[in-house]
Amino acid sequence: MTNHPPSIIALDGPAASGKTTVGRRLAEKLGYLFFDTGIMYRAVTWIALDHDMDMQNEELITQMAQSAQIDIRPPSQNDGRPCDVLIGGKDVTWDIRSGEVESKVSAISAYPGVRKALSEQQRRIGMRGKVVMVGRDIGTVVLPEADLKVYLDASAEERARRRYDEIVERGEHADLDDLLKKMIERDRIDSTRAVAPLRPAGDAVIINTDELSEDQVYTRVLEMCE
Ligand code: DC
Repeated sequence: MTNHPPSIIALDGPAASGKTTVGRRLAEKLGYLFFDTGIMYRAVTWIALDHDMDMQNEELITQMAQSAQIDIRPPSQNDGRPCDVLIGGKDVTWDIRSGEVESKVSAISAYPGVRKALSEQQRRIGMRGKVVMVGRDIGTVVLPEADLKVYLDASAEERARRRYDEIVERGEHADLDDLLKKMIERDRIDSTRAVAPLRPAGDAVIINTDELSEDQVYTRVLEMCE
């Protein structure tokens, strides 16, 4: 590690591995920017759905990703949101978490042109330092020079259960079996895509969070920083 505390922190892992919660707390503690890159892939997917775009039309979706105006701002409402996500002035914070977006986002984020457009923006912001960047390919592709790389993992069953709890807590209906099936399918697409597949960087610290509480994971990562 070159910096103490590390200035650029990359936090990768599959869906619902705890990256966002740990990353947000860590950024707050260190006074760093928290950047959840999944928001950008979700936003592009939401725009494609909203405009009724042909999801198979890679060229069209790539062009849209290159010009998409995705605005991320401090939370305007106290409804559990970590930030506001605005597209063309419309608040899409919860829309980008819908089942429809969730079922399409892995396919859209496998398009190399979409990845290039979004990861260039992520890299530009990350290279300023004092950042906790969360995603799938931060340590491997977006910021390979990160001072600290952590890869959080957990079994699909445990991650589906966490997602289930989150949805129920928001007062919405969820089906655990269905969530598990979708989780496994997303993992498959994310980890087998040709460009920037989900995998730990060679120099990442891998933490399996199956048996760990949120606090334990946070404490472990914080210790690595201090
Ligand atoms: O972390 P998340 O569940 O919000 O991410 C949504 C999708 O975006 C996920 O299925 C894969 C994709 N993604 C990606 O390919 N690369 C990133 N750096 C972040 C997310």
